[in-house]
Amino acid sequence: MGREINQRKAAIIGCGFVGSATAFTLMQSQLFSELVLVDVDFDKADGEAKDIAHGIPFAGQMKIHAGVYEDLSDAAIIIVTAGAGQKPGETRLDLVHKNVAIYESIIPRIAEQNKDAILLIVSNPVDILTYTALKLSGYPENRVLGSGTVLDTARLKYALGEHLSVDSRSVHSFIIGEHGDSEIAVWSSANVAGVPLDQFCEMRGHYNHETAMKEIAESVKNSAYEIIAKKHATYYGIAMSVKRICECIMRNEKSVMPVSSIMHGEYGIEGMCLSMPAVVGSEGVETHVPITMNEEETKKLQESAATLKEIIEDIKL
Ligand SMILES: NC(=O)c1ccc[n+]([C@@H]2O[C@H](COP(=O)([O-])OP(=O)(O)OC[C@H]3O[C@@H](n4cnc5c(N)ncnc54)[C@H](O)[C@@H]3O)[C@@H](O)[C@H]2O)c1
Repeated sequence: MGREINQRKAAIIGCGFVGSATAFTLMQSQLFSELVLVDVDFDKADGEAKDIAHGIPFAGQMKIHAGVYEDLSDAAIIIVTAGAGQKPGETRLDLVHKNVAIYESIIPRIAEQNKDAILLIVSNPVDILTYTALKLSGYPENRVLGSGTVLDTARLKYALGEHLSVDSRSVHSFIIGEHGDSEIAVWSSANVAGVPLDQFCEMRGHYNHETAMKEIAESVKNSAYEIIAKKHATYYGIAMSVKRICECIMRNEKSVMPVSSIMHGEYGIEGMCLSMPAVVGSEGVETHVPITMNEEETKKLQESAATLKEIIEDIKL
């Protein structure tokens, strides 16, 4: 342990659909000069690295290779996507025990090699595994974060952009809470370029706000189930979400993103990880941002937290 951190090196643990799509996206982004891929199946990591490396002449010079835990000692960001994925019909929470066991074998080995990186957790259930990684790594809280509802928020912005026929990047809205069935779309603070959502909807000829918003939130919540039923996994959207989080960390952007991180009393929620908008920069999570929520949204957030708390107590870390 103790090699100096290489600020332009990242590692991905788990090179299945999500890990390899993330590696491909990161190669194209040119954010890093070295990317190491680790998988329990070394040949899988090696095959992915070699395949992705053949895109380098079209993107820009960097090193991408398969590796082992010793190769993590100088990585600035370690992205963990290892673990079983949802089978058709399975919820993210159904994966708890399988993936906590996998994390018990991975996280201490990472921490043995490197205590100074940022741990970015992607495997599901991401909130439970972010908490697991925090406990098992001994890392400072700000440097352990989960992709959380960054993907769900992107799905929401995309759906609203389509509904309102406006660029999804001009839509400001968040999904918060669990990355899963109890997630919450925070309508009360949603806006398009500063114009309250309901007002913008009316500008675009939509008047049935309640029905439309309910349908959009449901379709966002169910989109992973729908995609998994059709193609057995989701990976492009999450790969772009991970790239965006890495960009924010590498460039110290301090963007506000709904990553999953430990809560300390915000909205009465304590001692678990879930997604709240947070300022993210080179040190990971800087601070939570208390966005405006109405009473019903706050209550739903607390219910989402209670679901996660029960599971955390059950896994006894
Ligand atoms: N957070 C999100 O928004 C999001 C989105 C999509 C998928 N996911 C999650 O990402 C995870 C991976 O999904 P996938 O579709 O890539 O699955 P996958 O089965 O294709 O890949 C999992 C990979 O992990 C590897 N692995 C298993 N145990 C390991 C260990 N101990 N050490 C190293 N590698 C190990 C496997 O060999 C495999 O290559 C799942 O938990 C899935 O639910 C999260």
